[in-house]
Amino acid sequence: MEIRTVGVVGLGTMGAGIAEVFARGGLAVTAVEADPQALARGMAALASSLDRAVKRGKLTPAQSGEIAGRVTQAGKLADLAGADLVVEVVPEQLAIKRQVLTELDRACRPDAIFATNTSSLSVTTIAAGTAHPGRVIGMHFFNPAPVMRLVEVVTTVLTDPAAAGSVSGLAERLGKTPVQVSDRAGFVANALLLPYLNHAVRLLETGYATREDIDRAMTLGAGLPMGPLTLLDLIGLDTSLAVLEVLAREFGGTRYTPASLLRRLTDAGRLGRKSGAGFYAYPDGGQVPDEAGLAAGAPGAVTLLDPVAGADAASAGRAAALAGLLAGAGIEVSRDPAAGSGLVVVAIGAMGGVLDAVAEAEAGDRSADAVGIRLVNAELAEVVPSPLTSAVAMDKARALAVKAGLRTVTAPDRPGLLVGALLYPHLRDAAAMVADGYARPSDVDSAMTLGCGYPRGPIRMLDEAGLAQAAAILSAMHAAYGDPAFAPPPLLMACASAGLALAPRG
Ligand code: 3HC
Repeated sequence: MEIRTVGVVGLGTMGAGIAEVFARGGLAVTAVEADPQALARGMAALASSLDRAVKRGKLTPAQSGEIAGRVTQAGKLADLAGADLVVEVVPEQLAIKRQVLTELDRACRPDAIFATNTSSLSVTTIAAGTAHPGRVIGMHFFNPAPVMRLVEVVTTVLTDPAAAGSVSGLAERLGKTPVQVSDRAGFVANALLLPYLNHAVRLLETGYATREDIDRAMTLGAGLPMGPLTLLDLIGLDTSLAVLEVLAREFGGTRYTPASLLRRLTDAGRLGRKSGAGFYAYPDGGQVPDEAGLAAGAPGAVTLLDPVAGADAASAGRAAALAGLLAGAGIEVSRDPAAGSGLVVVAIGAMGGVLDAVAEAEAGDRSADAVGIRLVNAELAEVVPSPLTSAVAMDKARALAVKAGLRTVTAPDRPGLLVGALLYPHLRDAAAMVADGYARPSDVDSAMTLGCGYPRGPIRMLDEAGLAQAAAILSAMHAAYGDPAFAPPPLLMACASAGLALAPRG
């Protein structure tokens, strides 16, 4: 069936975005919201999104008017009698969703397709309570719906393949990329995204790193479009908590058990952007402070140490790269720990090891002055104190990195430091999802690039980082924390030792 007329039930942030996507795609949309105030807010959100597109020159005022004209407001489900497809975007509570679908059974044509935008509930359970479970399907959009190109089309054991075909075809007509998945908690994208975001909250609440450093590590260090705490504020802390609770019930383990801070902030009503505050306060939230002023505190000379000899084949290259950057910024670099005084910089890798390097260089008397610096890429340095490093030495090391043209994050001297400690367990979850047969590498990568704006999918990131390096960091994290959630899955270990990639490159 070719879908021409659609209903959207529930006009919150996602509902309004989904209504806009349909209207932009030329479909006649009936937007139903029982609460008149919520209806007005949803329509205002849709109008302001269209205005933004006009201001950016993406739509002409006439096109914007035509799109808005395709959306009819309604207060009751009976107005959906003629719809080919109805998407429900009501709150994430099974009872509410079932109630809506029961009413839609009465209100709509018997051949209408019902889609749920649930981010966590079982589509099978939602479908099973309806008159035509074969025509109930998951159609999962990503926030902001007009921008993110992924639609997860979720089928159940009851789904009629023709309904799945119609919905996938529609997603393509709307300029989206459908990824067809079976009904499992979190589907592909949320099952990978939420445990990573949860881990970020846990690192914040245990004092592992600051809010800004956690976000900066993943934007500048991993190239993601938003830091995890900023993204939680966008998704909504209540929604994120609800998804994690479902994932925890389905999969168990620390990755999914919601961090206490996430629960506390939700209890406190700090739900993210939509309530005016979450991890950050809005409208200004999430702006990373400028570090440029720090450069003035940089020392004119430093001693540069390699990390522990032989610990890592790339160590010599890292020290040379850091020495080049410092020299380029006019800083005198000595390689002899017996000769100099002042700041000692250890050119560490992702495994850390500041004190080990100091001990190996027989420079124990300079421990308070020793700081690790890891060049993550051309933009970001992780600045890493040992337990003996003085606050003065830390300030000097950050100033030094800024003077050398880098941005910084402060990370503890633990396996993975900050970027790796957040990123590798996330990539590990992606490898585990492939290993257990739920999704193909290409589906995992499409879901995260198109649904969450990643520059490359997690499987490709793993292959590019090198599976041996990933396995080493994960094994070290597993050994350090004893958490099986960090253990590299057998598929990753096998490919790493065979020198193979997880995904074939075309
Ligand atoms: N509504 C409509 N359009 C929007 C928008 C919004 N809320 N926010 C941004 N845009 C548009 C802009 O108009 C602009 O469009 P243009 O390129 O056509 O001019 C484009 O998006 C880029 O916007 P900006 O330049 O203002 O901002 P950024 O470059 O910083 O991008 C972002 C913003 C697209 C949101 C980007 O930061 C991103 O991709 N973030 C990741 C978002 C993500 O991960 N979403 C998934 C969350 S999980 C989920 O939703 C599932 C659920 O079940 C929990």
